[in-house]
Amino acid sequence: MKNILLKVENLAKAFTPGEMVWQNVNFDLAQGDFLYILGGSGAGKSSLLRTVASFEQPTSGQVYCQGVNFQNSSNADLMRSRKRISFIPQNLGLIPDLTLRDHIELTQLSLPLMDRVDHGTMQNYLQLMGLKDKWNKPVATFSGGEKQRVAILRALCKKCDLLIADEPTGAQDFEMTWKLMDLFVKLNLSGTTMLLATHDLEMVRRLRKRCAILRDGTFKVEERV
Ligand SMILES: Nc1ncnc2c1ncn2[C@@H]1O[C@H](COP(=O)(O)OP(=O)(O)O)[C@@H](O)[C@H]1O
Ligand SMILES: [Mg+2]
Repeated sequence: MKNILLKVENLAKAFTPGEMVWQNVNFDLAQGDFLYILGGSGAGKSSLLRTVASFEQPTSGQVYCQGVNFQNSSNADLMRSRKRISFIPQNLGLIPDLTLRDHIELTQLSLPLMDRVDHGTMQNYLQLMGLKDKWNKPVATFSGGEKQRVAILRALCKKCDLLIADEPTGAQDFEMTWKLMDLFVKLNLSGTTMLLATHDLEMVRRLRKRCAILRDGTFKVEERV
């Protein structure tokens, strides 16, 4: 039997009392699973991913990661579980005056050595993402697509069990989108569990991965779309 990494039970969220953004969200991710969350703009993808990653609290329901209940655990347990999760937020969270190098090195410094992805692999990612020449440049000078790749690269600094990515290719051209998707598929094949949000039905169709649809506040897991 597969090892359950993430369990989401009856999750619901209302930013305004009584106005549910989504409810009855239930799904499990086993180690090595790949799940897309597909939904239009405003469907609730980002708020759901932030809640699943424990950056926000749900209005009701529970998230368990490797058996730790995110709604009912000590800060120490929460930190320990979060260490195994990498998150690529839609709003990137970069600091404009810092260089690409600053972003990567500060992230690496915040990680114990054993949790850092090795230098050679990081160099390969830099090359793949076309960011080598930008290493010492402040991210304020980067295009939207380049900034998004910095956020991806930063998330990939950390060895993780679960990668949660919110529209990670939303600002990329066709070629870069598929380079990145190819990388995500390879990471998944090497054992990383993937949870990705997108509004791009065509991408989900091409990739032929399991998909959940978020629409009108309801969440439904489909095998294929
Ligand atoms: N922090 C917040 N405060 C109030 N409303 C929010 C907040 N975040 C999101 N919303 C609302 O929740 C709904 C879903 O937003 P979001 O999760 O960002 O959707 P998506 O990522 O699918 O576009 C939207 O109507 C949005 O305005
Ligand atoms: Mg969003």
